[in-house]
Amino acid sequence: MRVIEEECMSVNSSDEKKITVRDFRQKKEKGEPIAMLTAYDYPVARALDRAGIDAILVGDSLAMVALGYENTLPVTMDEMIHHCKAVARGAARALLIGDMPFLSYQTSPVDAVRNAGRFLQEGGMEAVKLEGGREMLPAIQAVLNAGIPVLGHLGLTPQSIHKFGGMRPQARSAEAARRLLEDALLLEQAGAFAIVLESIPARLAALVTKRLSIPTIGIGAGSGCNGQVLVTNDMLGLYDRFTPRFVKRYANLLEEMDRAFQGFRADVQARAFPAREHETDMPDEEWQKLQMLLEKSK
Ligand code: KIV
Repeated sequence: MRVIEEECMSVNSSDEKKITVRDFRQKKEKGEPIAMLTAYDYPVARALDRAGIDAILVGDSLAMVALGYENTLPVTMDEMIHHCKAVARGAARALLIGDMPFLSYQTSPVDAVRNAGRFLQEGGMEAVKLEGGREMLPAIQAVLNAGIPVLGHLGLTPQSIHKFGGMRPQARSAEAARRLLEDALLLEQAGAFAIVLESIPARLAALVTKRLSIPTIGIGAGSGCNGQVLVTNDMLGLYDRFTPRFVKRYANLLEEMDRAFQGFRADVQARAFPAREHETDMPDEEWQKLQMLLEKSK
């Protein structure tokens, strides 16, 4: 019988230890913060992996920051899978999580399993995220029963933007906060491996984090969570239509792009590009042969 050592299974081709959902829980136990960012394409996935980011979320924020939609509702399963494939080709180490888009799991547990399965089978993801609390338990349970790890998402769940009346912080009343805590405990009981807490009061997020044995990943939920996630295009300054208050800018790539594109245009107009070093030449004798050929065919 072929015996495969557990250590070998968790080592990828680049010899770096592959992050799995088990590492998430271990990190919480050891008090090690978890760093997660979003990606939608191959070069960014590679860069996140090089930087040692623990988990890459192919978020449905794709709809807004990469496809130009007003909110996350229009993005389809096929669009999500297309981008997941590119990310999976770029990342070898980070845990890969596909975000289930609107109506891919709310309609029935059967739809939830089928679509979650597509993220693993076609998209190369290793887990899925879906939004919602107790009302989503049948779908979450069905996905988990199919052997697919689930990342929960509570608080500001952008697929419910119209129910909330906009992208506004959630769970600010005692009753809503109690309900969110109950939902988090239910998701943990169901078997979610971690929960994203979005745009909720920092002290509530810290309380939820203390009460759970699975990690919480905060976005606009303060420093008391076990990990943090941001939308990469927000933190890189690549999306300027709307920037939530909780985003920290680590770069301003739109300004860099403007500079680069204006530089290219100016070079083309001044005939400064291409320069000699960008050209390809042919041997002199071939050039002379060509002249003779052209002469003959006159
Ligand atoms: O879609 C997304 O990028 C997300 C993160 C903001 C958590 O859900």
